[in-house]
Amino acid sequence: LDNGLALTPPMGWLAWERFRCNIDCDNDPDNCISEHLFMKMADHMVSDGFLAAGYDVVSLDDCWMSHQRDNNGRLQPDPDRFPSGIKALSDYMHSKGLKLGIYEDYGNFTCGGYPGILGHLETDAQTFADWGVDYVKLDGCYANPDDMDQGYPMFGQYLNKTGRPMVYSCSWPDYQQNPNYNLIVPVCNLWRNYADIEDSWASVTDIMDHYADHQDQLSPLAGPGHWNDPDMLIIGNFGLSYEQSRTQMAVWAVLAAPLLMSVDLRTIRPEYRDILLNPAVIAVNQDPLGIQGTRVSKDNNIEIWTRPISPVHGDDHSFAVAILNRGDGGTPDNVELEPGKVGLNAVNGYNITDLFDKVTHGVVKPTDTITLQVNPSGVVLLGCVVMAG
Ligand code: DGJ
Repeated sequence: LDNGLALTPPMGWLAWERFRCNIDCDNDPDNCISEHLFMKMADHMVSDGFLAAGYDVVSLDDCWMSHQRDNNGRLQPDPDRFPSGIKALSDYMHSKGLKLGIYEDYGNFTCGGYPGILGHLETDAQTFADWGVDYVKLDGCYANPDDMDQGYPMFGQYLNKTGRPMVYSCSWPDYQQNPNYNLIVPVCNLWRNYADIEDSWASVTDIMDHYADHQDQLSPLAGPGHWNDPDMLIIGNFGLSYEQSRTQMAVWAVLAAPLLMSVDLRTIRPEYRDILLNPAVIAVNQDPLGIQGTRVSKDNNIEIWTRPISPVHGDDHSFAVAILNRGDGGTPDNVELEPGKVGLNAVNGYNITDLFDKVTHGVVKPTDTITLQVNPSGVVLLGCVVMAG
């Protein structure tokens, strides 16, 4: 969508994967979906360096609403859990330099059974603008997928008509068998293509494989203002090891994926926080060229993924190269990397650095080889800066 927003993949925090539809504030006041939770996360976004690293959206997901619209047909938040209202919440975010994201559903109900948007497209767009919302995720439960080709663009027009810049995140293709991306790319800033992420390595690898298996179709869709969304980062939760967390971060960087953390920022362990905050890896994700990378080789357990990034000299790009060890037991593998074999052909070579471990490999020519030790279910992510002639 060419609305001047999301020129690099959005970065922020999204409630769903970690906090779900927990509305039990009586028994679980610190973890239920309430203004308290979002304000706490906002505080940590600022105090723990996430905002400074580029994560600037804090987003509601399902279950923030009251079951009833008001007398004017406007959505309203649950009064017990959001007593100050959504405008106050966006004011709070803005006072800290953050943005507020909200959630609705293109259907009769949200997936959690709250009021859907059908019959209220224009009202809801205006309500979000009036509340100072900066980012809207529109889910697709309880809807006819055939209607989405008309409905999602229509809501996009109403968002645009408010005059308030709002990033538009669509779940549209995820609900269709054969999405027509010619319609979706001009209408949405990002779109979910595939299943919900769950807190497990199996879920992360399933998603990675989906994007690799469909990369010929999906990768060309991405670019400044329009991104494929493989779903949230689950780093720092319960399902991924340290190595697996690095792998998710590296692959999401190579995929030019939105970086939407869904983790309890109050309790995240420092080593996981450092993965999310790694400036060199974030720089790959946020590369201004906005080219989505691809898996270029798969040899038993070893996969190599590459992404062309800046700086560019003449016809030659720099690259991020992720070497994955999909074996999940035993010992590290030694992998020989010959840049020319994975598409890095610049004659003067590349200055190569390990972006997680800060090891430098110096200038490597296309036919040179370097040996990398890749841990089980882990990754080595290399920054390969092309040498000028
Ligand atoms: C399905 C979406 O794909 C998830 O990300 C989340 O928004 C849930 N619905 C909420 O019900």
